[in-house]
Amino acid sequence: MTFPQQKSRMNLTDERICHELSSQGWSIIDDFFSPTTLAQLTLDCQRGVSFRDLHQAGVGRGSQQAIEVTIRGDQIQWLEAGMTASTDSYLESMTRLRLMLNQKLFLGLESNENHVAKYPPGAFYQRHLDRFRDNDSRTVSSVFYMNPDWQPGHGGELRLHLDGLKHDISPLSNRLVLFISADIWHEVLPTHRIRWSLTGWFKRRQ
Ligand code: OGA
Ligand code: MN
Repeated sequence: MTFPQQKSRMNLTDERICHELSSQGWSIIDDFFSPTTLAQLTLDCQRGVSFRDLHQAGVGRGSQQAIEVTIRGDQIQWLEAGMTASTDSYLESMTRLRLMLNQKLFLGLESNENHVAKYPPGAFYQRHLDRFRDNDSRTVSSVFYMNPDWQPGHGGELRLHLDGLKHDISPLSNRLVLFISADIWHEVLPTHRIRWSLTGWFKRRQ
């Protein structure tokens, strides 16, 4: 499936994304999908993760992984190809974005992985870097938000820590945030409403 509206918007913003990622390390793209695609994706993600596959997110990698709700309180489900048409479209969009980043910034990104994340009220994710200590393959992080009617008082901002300055980003529906995984310290502030996102990583060979 292709989404012409989304494709043309992507072309218009490619230059800006690349410029911002290379100059400041992060970039925000609003109105990423068409309203219909956004609505279907939001529905599918919420329906999918209310199933049995939703599990408490861990901290760390492989056998070192541990559940630490004092560090992160989200519940996640990894996306696989073939789950729903809308999640497949999301994966395809991320793949197109990956190829664009390779073409323009020569990042050599080989794959992308994504999970749905649900933050129940009260959940947060403490300040961290997305790159693991023993594995440097995560190169660009992506977060896409699906929270209709999000208000300033609902919390749940993505806080970027930029050379001592804080920059808060609201988890508004149809907003995609990209940042350099190795450089940008960030956290999710406590949310007061259920907060939905699709979080992913564009990865290089280790
Ligand atoms: C993460 C993360 C940010 C967000 O899952 O690693 O930092 O805004 N998420 O959900
Ligand atoms: Mn993170």
